[in-house]
Parts: sequence; structure tokens; C-alpha cells
Amino acid sequence: MTLKAVLLGPDGQLGHDVRRLHAAAGSSFELQPLPRAKLDVAVPGAVENALGDRSFDVLVNCAAYTRVDDAEDDAAAAFAVNSQAVRAMAAVCASRKARLIHISTDYVFGGDTARDRPLPEDAPLAPVNVYGESKALGEKLACRESDDVVVVRTASLFGTAGLGGRGGNFVETVIRNGASTGEIRAVDDRTMSPTAAADVARVLLRLVTEGCAPGCHHVVNSGSATWFEFAAAIVRGAGIEAAVTPCSGDDFPARAERPRYTVLDNAKISSMFGAMSPWQEALERYLRARS
Ligand SMILES: NC(=O)c1ccc[n+]([C@@H]2O[C@H](COP(=O)([O-])OP(=O)(O)OC[C@H]3O[C@@H](n4cnc5c(N)ncnc54)[C@H](OP(=O)(O)O)[C@@H]3O)[C@@H](O)[C@H]2O)c1
Repeated sequence: MTLKAVLLGPDGQLGHDVRRLHAAAGSSFELQPLPRAKLDVAVPGAVENALGDRSFDVLVNCAAYTRVDDAEDDAAAAFAVNSQAVRAMAAVCASRKARLIHISTDYVFGGDTARDRPLPEDAPLAPVNVYGESKALGEKLACRESDDVVVVRTASLFGTAGLGGRGGNFVETVIRNGASTGEIRAVDDRTMSPTAAADVARVLLRLVTEGCAPGCHHVVNSGSATWFEFAAAIVRGAGIEAAVTPCSGDDFPARAERPRYTVLDNAKISSMFGAMSPWQEALERYLRARS
């Protein structure tokens, strides 16, 4: 029988690439996209109603409240989508013996301010803002409701949906601003794992078809960068005439505190599916595809 997967958040940056690659690969499983218009996961009872009668084997949750600064002022909305709805998804999955593949974030970390080595899956959660807290609680609630949950933590995504004007992504912002002003200032005291959404999507498709033990996986491109280093690589790669200047995160005051170091150790997923590409290669591929 053909395996059936439901995809939540199909029009977001990651969900878009999951759909695109699933279609391109002619995958062996059926993917049912369920956009917000058909299921607003923030509405209490909506997850149970929409998924209760549906037949599926795997639920891939790419839906999330991702507006990090807005979450500070609207914690209830962030927790509704990133925590309570995820608990409901896991409960529905458990009741029908389906697997939940839930996407989470490097922002569940950051509170360990002395950290300077990549974080493994079992590092203690220590979010520094409401968005990170809501995602951390979502992970915990899901794993409490069901014993068949795969948490995929990723970070600093750039995906093709960002090209389509959906708020863009860091790569598109640097290209747009660099080309129009000839100048980019980027933070040099925050270090993360730049990651192509397409590479995460590829892993998600393999997790659906090939399976794995329940648990958490860090799915990010290899290597690390500060936002300054990432911006400089984007400007070079895109061939833009723009000066890139380093600055401190304190120069960009924002409502949400940002973590200083959230590089994720991807050794576990690399040992399963082969090494994740270095982020520089993933960026090159993204820039080639957009030109
Ligand atoms: N972007 C990053 O840099 C980054 C970094 C680390 C982790 N992540 C994680 O990766 C996952 C995917 O992120 P992304 O970048 O693809 O985010 P995104 O582009 O903001 O997409 C989020 C998706 O969630 C949907 N959504 C939001 N609220 C919803 C609701 N109430 N009901 C149903 N759907 C709802 C959105 O629907 P609409 O299409 O209708 O808006 C959109 O499709 C998330 O779990 C995020 O936490 C992202």
C-alpha cells in the first residue's frame, strides 16, 4: 500500500521545498499538503477535527509561528501554534499509530552563553526568547504525547519560497540591499549554521521513506558562520558590488534577544544519510538556481 504523508505549512519556506522536491523526485509516497486555509492549527480543536478522519501514516509539521520579534508581544499566538498545536498533532498521531516528524529550531538553544562548540541533540534546551521557548515546549509536549516522534532541528534557512516574495530570506535580503545601497552591515558576534531549505527537505523525504528510530536529529549544512561571514559569502557568490562591514548584534536592537551561538552538530544525521554539504556549497547551489 502506498505510504501517505500529510504536510502542514506547505507554503512556507521549508514546506515549499518539500513539495518541490517530492514532485521532482517522483517520490514513492503520497504527499497531501494541508495549508493554513484548510487547517489553522492555532484554533483549539482544529487539528483533531481536520486530521481525525484523514488517512495517513506520517504527519510532517513544517507549520510554525516564526516571527521571532512579534512573538515577544504575542506569546499566546506563538505558544498556540508552536506548542499546543504540536501536542494535539502528536496526540492524533499516537491514536492512529502514525509518525509525527516535527520541525524545530536551533533557537531552543542559546542560553549557555559560554558555548563555543557545536550543540549535539542531547544538549540541554536553553532558549533566550519567546519563540525559542514556544518551540522547546512544542518538542517536549510532542514527545510526551507519543513515542513515535522525530524532531528535526534546523537553522537559518534559505529556500526557494524566499524568492517568491514571501518575506524573503537572509540571502535575498543581502542581495536586494547590497545591490540597491552598495553597503551591508552584518552581525559578527552571533554564530549559527546557515542551511539550504532544499537540503533539509531532501532529508525529510528520506526520513519519510526510509524511516529511522524516534528521537531528535540536527539537520543543518556543515560548518558554521557569523551573519557577517554569511553575508560576505553571499555578496561574493552573487557577484554584487557591495562593501560588507562587521558590526555587533547590539547595533541592531530588537524586541527578541538573539542567541550568541547556536551551531548544531549534524554528526548523527550525517552518519545515517551521508555528510551534509558544507553551507558554502549549498549557498552556491542556491545562487546558481536563482540566476
Ligand atoms: N526560517 C528559518 O530560518 C528557520 C530556522 C530554524 C528553524 N526553522 C523551523 O523550520 C520550520 C519551517 O520554517 P519556515 O522557514 O518554512 O517558516 P515560514 O516560511 O514562516 O512558514 C511557516 C508555515 O507555517 C504556516 N503557519 C503559520 N501559522 C499557521 C497556523 N496557525 N495554521 C497553519 N499553518 C500555519 C504558514 O502558513 P502561511 O503559508 O499561510 O503563512 C507557513 O506555511 C519551522 O518549524 C521553523 O520553526 C526555521
